[in-house]
Amino acid sequence: MHNRSRMDSVLVTGSSGLIGSEVCAYFAKAAYRVHGVDNNQRASFFGPEGDTRWNQYRLQRELPCFQHHELDIRNRQKVLDLVNRIRPKIIVHAAAQPSHDRATTIPFDDFDTNAVGTLNLLEAARQACPESPFIHLSTNKVYGDAPNQLRLTELETRWDYADPEYAEGIPETFPIDQSLHSLFGASKLAADMMVQEYGRYFNMPTCCLRGGCLTGPNHSGVELHGFLSYLVKCNLEDREYQIYGYKGKQVRDNIHSHDVTRFIHEFAKNPRSGEVYNLGGGKANSCSILEAFVLVERFTGRRQRYTYVEDNRIGDHICYYSDLRKMRAHYPRWDITIDLKQTISEIVEAWQRRLAF
Ligand SMILES: NC(=O)c1ccc[n+]([C@@H]2O[C@H](COP(=O)([O-])OP(=O)(O)OC[C@H]3O[C@@H](n4cnc5c(N)ncnc54)[C@H](O)[C@@H]3O)[C@@H](O)[C@H]2O)c1
Repeated sequence: MHNRSRMDSVLVTGSSGLIGSEVCAYFAKAAYRVHGVDNNQRASFFGPEGDTRWNQYRLQRELPCFQHHELDIRNRQKVLDLVNRIRPKIIVHAAAQPSHDRATTIPFDDFDTNAVGTLNLLEAARQACPESPFIHLSTNKVYGDAPNQLRLTELETRWDYADPEYAEGIPETFPIDQSLHSLFGASKLAADMMVQEYGRYFNMPTCCLRGGCLTGPNHSGVELHGFLSYLVKCNLEDREYQIYGYKGKQVRDNIHSHDVTRFIHEFAKNPRSGEVYNLGGGKANSCSILEAFVLVERFTGRRQRYTYVEDNRIGDHICYYSDLRKMRAHYPRWDITIDLKQTISEIVEAWQRRLAF
């Protein structure tokens, strides 16, 4: 068990992003000193719509014990210096180039950020604070498109697994190699392996959270990343949403960033070494794109306009939802507390507020 002393600190990378900002707010409320690392790289990856400065300013305004560090995690020396100076009690690593489609056009930026940036942080942690839990936000893209090889059933509005073995979703034992990952999936897999290795080889308390769709009101959703956030934004702005293949019946499981953060806290309190968890909303909080349209329409009262493009995105999952049983077994105090409807209503409210400015 990790012992608390007065004003322990937590280091959060990607602190202006969806997950990072939620983690900062959560730990600030739990009376930690919070150090956020972000350089608004999301705006470089995705243009002005991906800008996360608004969220950085919000944290600086609202959290008295929050300190922002304008730092690129690719800058090895500065990462080593910062971690050495702060010696945080917990590290949450949520900075990334997060889009598989975008990675194709920026392979060096993608790999340097996702793989090398993670190594920079791991090595800094090993040198400065090897006993501090290191929680890494990984992705279900580490499984490549292997889930698409599973037998599926076509239902009226969604695909589902036909094999009863996967009735609860994809477990952590699913194969990670010999499938198509996208460059993003490969750079994240490299990071995921390093995080496991620092756990196993150096016995550090590390874990990888292989996310499904992580979502919530503070996402700066863009077409290439942040499925529900972007979909809601399109609805509110009366923009046409483009569906790429699979008849719009492709299934994602959605987890609210608050439930992600609650799991991070549980792990930090009782860490293990080199663990991996599939972190999503599970079957109960899964939906297809067509189903998401209907859910969002209920809250906004506006019909979603869309066009259908026959070609699917390369490597896109046809049906993916996470098997949450390992998370629940290791951390019985954790479970999903925010269902899909509530999550969507919060995203709608947040966009209505942000778009009003
Ligand atoms: N949101 C999802 O659906 C989802 C799904 C699976 C996995 N994940 C993973 O979870 C993590 C967090 O995702 P998110 O949705 O919060 O992403 P996000 O893009 O909202 O936040 C990431 C933040 O990291 C910052 N950043 C990027 N590169 C940086 C760099 N080189 N130096 C410093 N800061 C940098 C960005 O500016 C951004 O604010 C990522 O690792 C992502 O791959 C997210």
